[in-house]
Amino acid sequence: MIKQVEIHSNGGPEKIVWKECELEKLKSGQVSIKHTFVGLNFIDTYHRSGLYPLALPSKLGMEGAGVVVNKAPDVNEYDVGDRVAYVMALGSYSTHRNIEASKLVKIPEKITDQQAAAVLLKGMTVEYLVERLFKVNKTHTVLFHAVAGGVGLLACQWLKCLGAKIIGTAGTEKKALLAKQNGCDDVILYKDEDFVEKVKYLTEGKGVDVVYDGVGKDTAILGLDCLKPLGTMVVFGNSSGNCPPIDPGLLASKGSLFFTRPTLMNYGTKREDLLHSSGRVFEMILTNKIKLEINTSYKLSDVSKAHTDLELRKTYGSVVMENDY
Ligand SMILES: NC(=O)c1ccc[n+]([C@@H]2O[C@H](COP(=O)([O-])OP(=O)(O)OC[C@H]3O[C@@H](n4cnc5c(N)ncnc54)[C@H](OP(=O)(O)O)[C@@H]3O)[C@@H](O)[C@H]2O)c1
Repeated sequence: MIKQVEIHSNGGPEKIVWKECELEKLKSGQVSIKHTFVGLNFIDTYHRSGLYPLALPSKLGMEGAGVVVNKAPDVNEYDVGDRVAYVMALGSYSTHRNIEASKLVKIPEKITDQQAAAVLLKGMTVEYLVERLFKVNKTHTVLFHAVAGGVGLLACQWLKCLGAKIIGTAGTEKKALLAKQNGCDDVILYKDEDFVEKVKYLTEGKGVDVVYDGVGKDTAILGLDCLKPLGTMVVFGNSSGNCPPIDPGLLASKGSLFFTRPTLMNYGTKREDLLHSSGRVFEMILTNKIKLEINTSYKLSDVSKAHTDLELRKTYGSVVMENDY
């Protein structure tokens, strides 16, 4: 028997229920894995709350790491005993699962399962945001919101390696300090300070080349005023709620701005993108360009508490959950 989370209706963390069941029979091209660590991502809260609707009842969780315990006869790339990880495959809140081998990557020897589950989805997100969607270089000044979060702390270190000047926003002094320790040049406490005015001040009125905004509703429209003419607004998440609709005329009047709403589904799930992006993330860790401190961890059985803390902005950096069943 295995255990897995199911939600039967949308709502708060109390909707997360564990169920005991049999693991389904393996299909062609699939392997069974036993999870060791599971990554917690903000998208999991959107699935649970219904902001991103799923057909119910539904599994939850988009990222995991573990060991292959069984495989279909036609799977050649992976063997029983291999340490593997994956992103963007619903159902990681479980002790075991079946998954298409084509969605997996091998975890390098010098990277632990805990690190892989903490870094893969968020690190791949940073990779496409700063190396492909907008190719950041040392001439750029960047505004990154919620810079002490999971994606944020990885972004700080990655952007520093690219030589950019980084302005971040954070909810508390403690988060601001952590962001600075991870390479952020200036941190704005956006609950207390007017971040648009502060960005203008820090850039001597010029504005930034690109805004990365995973906060959405509270910051995205205001953020347009932080950009230089021809600047790029990247709204990649909604931790405060959905970004309101934007009139294209507004982008014209604020300086012929570019606006995009990207997802990892489009940038990181094709096999070649998955291998490229995960490879870059692992390389950044193995060459010590990214140091991975796990600031927030939970047991998998405490997943409801982990959701509560993430939504109450109590977590720092990446959050992982250990399979304790
Ligand atoms: N599009 C993609 O491909 C993609 C992929 C991965 C993640 N994402 C997005 O990236 C963002 C960060 O994800 P993450 O998993 O690393 O989460 P996270 O940044 O660790 O947590 C979210 C942070 O958002 C800030 N925040 C601001 N207003 C908030 C509110 N009303 N409620 C809750 N939090 C609020 C908080 O930081 P402060 O306290 O410092 O304000 C909070 O810690 C999310 O929006 C997520 O959906 C997008």
